Amino acid sequence: MASSPILSLASSTASSALPCRRRFLHNLKATSNQMTFLGNDHINSKQSFFRTSMSVAVENSKFTDITMAPPDPILGVSEAFRADTNEMKLNLGVGAYRTEDLQPYVLNVVKKAETLMLEWAENKEYLPIEGLAAFNKATAELLFGTENPVILQQRVATVQGLSGTGSLRLAAALIERYFPSSKVLISSPTWGNHKNIFNDARVPWSEYRYYDPKTVGLDFDGMISDIKAAPEGSFVLLHGCAHNPTGIDPTPEQWEIIADVIQEKNHIPFFDVAYQGFASGSLDKDASSVRMFAARGLELLIAQSYSKNLGLYAERIGAINVVCSSSDVAHRVKSQLKRLARPMYSNPPIHGARIVANIVGNSDLFSEWKEEMASMAGRIKSVRKKLYDSLCAKDNSGKDWSFILKQIGMFSFTGLNKAQSDNMTNKWHVYMTKDGRISLAGLSSANCEYLADAIIDSYHNVS
Ligand SMILES: Cc1ncc(COP(=O)(O)O)c(C=O)c1O
Repeated sequence: MASSPILSLASSTASSALPCRRRFLHNLKATSNQMTFLGNDHINSKQSFFRTSMSVAVENSKFTDITMAPPDPILGVSEAFRADTNEMKLNLGVGAYRTEDLQPYVLNVVKKAETLMLEWAENKEYLPIEGLAAFNKATAELLFGTENPVILQQRVATVQGLSGTGSLRLAAALIERYFPSSKVLISSPTWGNHKNIFNDARVPWSEYRYYDPKTVGLDFDGMISDIKAAPEGSFVLLHGCAHNPTGIDPTPEQWEIIADVIQEKNHIPFFDVAYQGFASGSLDKDASSVRMFAARGLELLIAQSYSKNLGLYAERIGAINVVCSSSDVAHRVKSQLKRLARPMYSNPPIHGARIVANIVGNSDLFSEWKEEMASMAGRIKSVRKKLYDSLCAKDNSGKDWSFILKQIGMFSFTGLNKAQSDNMTNKWHVYMTKDGRISLAGLSSANCEYLADAIIDSYHNVS
């Protein structure tokens, strides 16, 4: 006899884990519930059916072998911050911009673009798999510059992605499918999600040296020798600017040497550009590493994000760009990126794409964006300087704190170890990741001296 899929699912799911006799009794019970459910006393039997099936389902879950996932190391910091009632508490864990009053910030230029979009009342039809054409054009041109040969020769395959993370994930899927014997080299340390992304895409990775704890600076020699030692044709993941978590970027001369080695070894550069314009305040300056690699005629991948520079964190807007040797190759690569995207999420969201396209496509809004971006970058630079000044003024030990000024972007590696970072949180109520990273975007000038006291105490009094 045919039965409702819901009813048969409930009874078979619940009963299959039971021993034989109990399963028989259970089925009998479920069947009688099912029968009364179909009888006259509709409401009572409906309640009793759901009570029976729910309690059985909980006792015999098919998911009991699933263990508790560890909390996300960055998002967990915010949860702990919220639970702290101390009035001096500071959240320097999460990488989101805050105003001088430590409030989240929606850019005025975004509000203006959204007002226009409301007036235009455009429809919400599906986008094509590759995303909004006007966005894809704008994002590639922002990255390379409108007159760049790679744009003029149509050598860039651009596909709108689900912000930086989703764009990296799509690129990882491309690597997994078309370069199954290649691995990705990632910096040590790197943004925590990089490893998750490549793990889930089943792309092997290994680390290259990047951070030197002795100088709280770049381990350039280590980086170069690890990139040299990697198997030919590896993908080398590079942070285009404002390296996360360290805030330490190579100098222009060092970038040239990195490009030389990558070229010699036939590696494929893979840039993660999550902070264009947000690091230095200039879109062009922050794209200079990527443009230098493109000018050498190399093929490369670039993931972009508009979370930070346009404050569109929750809109999930970004892109993956693959610079190819010819427009023909780019055309084919784009078709495969679309093929990978289709079963993952079908097509991307429209709202953030329209915001970016409308801002970049309107000269007034574009200029206003650049001003607002420069002012966000400027506020971060000014608290960085104030923190440095406070450290120098308060610390009599002769320690050189100048590494803080050499870093760029919203993050600063303080050089504090795990125990010292714990002291920052437990004693001073300063919430930060345990690798010693602080987000200067969560700091106001009023709090710099307090933070300096906390750092000095943790550095000198905790080993
Ligand atoms: C280096 C780096 N890459 C990518 C991202 C991705 O961010 P989103 O997915 O919000 O664009 C971040 C965000 O913090 C980042 O720091």
